[in-house]
Amino acid sequence: MTDEELFQKLGKIEIREGKERQIKSYVLRNNVLSDKEKETIARYMPQYGFFFEDRIINYRELFGSDKPVIIEIGFGMGDTMQQVAIRRPEYNYIGIEVFLQGFVKLLKHLGEDNLDNVRIIRFNAVDVITHMIADGSVQGFHIFFPDPWPKKKHHKRRLMQLPFIHLLASKLVKGGYIYMVTDWEEYAEEAVETAKEEPLLYNPFFGFAPPVAWRPVTKFEQKGMEKEYSINEIWLERV
Ligand SMILES: C[S@@+](CC[C@H](N)C(=O)[O-])C[C@H]1O[C@@H](n2cnc3c(N)ncnc32)[C@H](O)[C@@H]1O
Repeated sequence: MTDEELFQKLGKIEIREGKERQIKSYVLRNNVLSDKEKETIARYMPQYGFFFEDRIINYRELFGSDKPVIIEIGFGMGDTMQQVAIRRPEYNYIGIEVFLQGFVKLLKHLGEDNLDNVRIIRFNAVDVITHMIADGSVQGFHIFFPDPWPKKKHHKRRLMQLPFIHLLASKLVKGGYIYMVTDWEEYAEEAVETAKEEPLLYNPFFGFAPPVAWRPVTKFEQKGMEKEYSINEIWLERV
């Protein structure tokens, strides 16, 4: 693939035709790449990035190792993803994000830090997880500060609804986990209640979970704390 084809391919998120009408949990912003971003992509995409394909990922091929796999959904600018991957090197990480500038920023950091246990994809997480991830193969899902879609008429755009929770649960190994953190209390309560309807999942804390030591504070979290929003953690396990 030439560099120009690479930029074009990365710039597009093809809308996949599904039987069910898919709910879009994100809004795409600026898709124009600067020369510096193009340089980063040409340099690091072959090693750290991958594209959507309608086939199940072979983790060993992707990482060159067999460590348990953790998937972060909506990594934003990627700071948390990078730090968690450094703090917990015993796992391999797949990051999924649609925000192009955030994706390229993390690509740059992965390349500069030579972080070998992270691979990232710019695509809709629902499609990636549905079509590329084998059932019963994931150790954990991280969803940090998902868009809260605060207006009632937008609640249907929230990711953490029963069909998506079920999709994640089906991809977990036994004992695997879903770890969500949000500063939107009503969304947090809704997610805890909805998860009770998923028979594959168990909430060991019944309500909210205590924070874990390895998760750094994100920019969104910082902003939320400045507004005195409470940070709620949700930890669910596959039975
Ligand atoms: C509020 S931001 C939080 C970013 C980051 N996790 C943090 O804590 O700073 C939510 C992110 O999720 C991404 N996102 C939302 N829906 C997505 C989807 N279906 N697939 C991939 N990324 C998605 C958005 O682009 C956005 O960057």
